[in-house]
Amino acid sequence: MGGGDWLNDRLGYRDWIRKSFGRPLPDGASWIRSLVFALILLFVFEGLTGFLLSLSYSPSTETAHASVEYTMNETLIGGFVRNLHFHAASLILVVITLIGLCCFYQGAYKGGNEASWILGVILLNLVFAYTISGFLLPWDQNAFWGTKVRTSIMGSTPLVGPMVQKVVQGGTDLGNLTLTRFYAGHFFLIPLVTVGVYFVYRGIKKHIWKRKMVGVESPETLPTYWPHQAARDVTMGCLVLAVLFGMSFAVPIELGPKADPLLNYPARPEWFFRWLYQLLKYFQGSAQIIGTIVIPGLMGVILILIPFLDRSEKPGFGQKKLLLTFLLAIALFCTGLTSIAYYHDLETGHYEEVELWQAKADPEFDVDTFYKSECFECHGSTGSGLLEATPDFGDPDFWSGSRADVYLIKAILEGIPNETLPEDERMPGYQDKINADQALALIEFKLKKFPEEE
Ligand code: HEC
Repeated sequence: MGGGDWLNDRLGYRDWIRKSFGRPLPDGASWIRSLVFALILLFVFEGLTGFLLSLSYSPSTETAHASVEYTMNETLIGGFVRNLHFHAASLILVVITLIGLCCFYQGAYKGGNEASWILGVILLNLVFAYTISGFLLPWDQNAFWGTKVRTSIMGSTPLVGPMVQKVVQGGTDLGNLTLTRFYAGHFFLIPLVTVGVYFVYRGIKKHIWKRKMVGVESPETLPTYWPHQAARDVTMGCLVLAVLFGMSFAVPIELGPKADPLLNYPARPEWFFRWLYQLLKYFQGSAQIIGTIVIPGLMGVILILIPFLDRSEKPGFGQKKLLLTFLLAIALFCTGLTSIAYYHDLETGHYEEVELWQAKADPEFDVDTFYKSECFECHGSTGSGLLEATPDFGDPDFWSGSRADVYLIKAILEGIPNETLPEDERMPGYQDKINADQALALIEFKLKKFPEEE
């Protein structure tokens, strides 16, 4: 008796393999099902990359940012794994949307199949829960200030809002407990629910499969999982992974400056939430709840109800023109708002501002240290100046004058060759030591802060 027989006697794996790979498909092989396979693959991938990231992640306000920095810069492939983990989430959303569209086109939820559709909507919401909790973990400025917006939206929900906000945050403001809770949710609770959803989905699929097999007279003539569906699954899986790796090479995910509760930061959400944030701008004050709860809530309800609203009798869009128009209108609405949001950022110099913060976050260039070592001897600890000719940065009037940032940057980079001053008291140039972004960071985060310190 070979070792394989010995094992098979105990585990019965041959039977299992024969049954899984040889199971007949009453509807034949399909590309939609291979999309579901790709989706599961992406989730497994998230689990793996998430586990790798967790090996060097430390959820506390003191350590989170530094630990992600460590993962990115000091470990072998940590930065790339982080890119994969981030982009796979976007791909999951894309694949879920594709599956939803195909099911809508085919009316796949008809004939007693509504439950899988509803599970799909639940899964979509789980993905949002993943992204919202994962968003905070790097504890950079964007994560901190972005999450602040989110938890305050939570808090604005009528009745339960304030309580939910307090439980989620672990207090009245974002801090250590918030990080710990978001991490526990991201790493334990939400995955647990996801696995639960998966098993319910499997159960339903099996039930439907049995129901379909009842009417089949000769099951041996049906196409089987292997090779008909398996070939599609492998193809789709490879395709999705190829896209994922391509994205992860092409678009690295950055880590912003460490969260600072005292320095307000122009935070932006992920691309798929941009429309919602743009919408919020139009509903201020007591009308806010229309943008935060009413409109998104209505969309969610319609999404869940689609199997019951769709009265068409055959596949295709022909018989559901009304529903289709409605969905297209929603898609157009979201795309429009998203475009406005990105266009607005381009117009108002948001990206320059982010670069400025990035320059400040450079670990090799700390504005305080640099000021102390280079500027201190002439401009002094309060910025008011130690020489006769030095200007007073601590005087609010200095900043209310008409000096443009470009002029100040030029002064710092090239110096001020003022012949009337003794040579050792002239403003020296620093272009050998810093670049323009760093000079601007010095102005914004050091010189302009002097009046507040007084
Ligand atoms: C050797 C002394 C000295 C050092 C070191 C020095 N400065 Fe100056 N700085 C001056 C003097 C003097 C002036 C005024 C020059 C003038 O008006 O001719 C000045 C002017 C400036 C101005 C322009 C203000 C204006 O309104 O024209 C800026 C900005 C500035 N310094 C920033 C810095 C920064 C940032 C550093 C460090 C990286 C630094 N300086 C280092 C002496 C110094």
